[in-house]
Amino acid sequence: MSNSQMTSMNDAQPHGPRAQRGFQWRDNGLGFSPVTIALHWIVAVLVLAIVALEIVLWVSPGTALTSVLNLLGTVLFPVSIYRFWARVTSWHPLPVGTPNPVEVIVSRSVATALALAMVLLPIAAWLAKSAAGQLVELPGGWIIPSPMQPDAQAAHVFDVLFRIGATPFLLGLALHIFGACKNHFVLKNDALKRMLGKRVEL
Ligand code: HEM
Repeated sequence: MSNSQMTSMNDAQPHGPRAQRGFQWRDNGLGFSPVTIALHWIVAVLVLAIVALEIVLWVSPGTALTSVLNLLGTVLFPVSIYRFWARVTSWHPLPVGTPNPVEVIVSRSVATALALAMVLLPIAAWLAKSAAGQLVELPGGWIIPSPMQPDAQAAHVFDVLFRIGATPFLLGLALHIFGACKNHFVLKNDALKRMLGKRVEL
């Protein structure tokens, strides 16, 4: 283990030097930072709201809810860029309990893929709407500028790319939530509680 990794892990201890000095901005081997935890749940609420709105709009298309959907996607995008960057540039805390290494690799890969999808899917949706000549309207009459002229072929390509990304994203999200429930209700460990802010001794 490198010196910087050791320093980072030691600093995360409740009574370690960094803990006494101040706020833990980044994740390290011993725990998630409060920033990660807050953003994780903000993103989870936004994503679940977007999925719910998509279902409502699918049942009754063209309602005023489209602008709310666009607003949620617009808020989600910059938060997701930060989260993906933070995820790939910080240590992922050690797993709680003694899980199977394959499960750890799969769960971390799914979480990172979800974070990446949160960056790519809003871009694909924005390009698909722009190419289809649809304005991306926000509540209050604000409009997100369109990056291109309408183009039916490009609209089809971006729409297909969005769907290709959205399907595994939803499957990955279901797997992620299933994993969290399994840890909490079947294995009865502190994985979910840690993501809710509980300090877990490893
Ligand atoms: C009700 C919904 C959700 C539950 C119960 C849940 C639960 C959890 C838990 C327990 C962890 C910690 C895993 C560990 O200890 O390594 C975690 C991490 C993570 N989750 Fe979720 N999650 C939910 C929704 C989401 C959504 C919607 C996304 C993104 C689209 C997401 C992305 C991530 C990522 C990237 C991590 C790694 C930590 C980070 O960088 O934030 N989760 N989740």
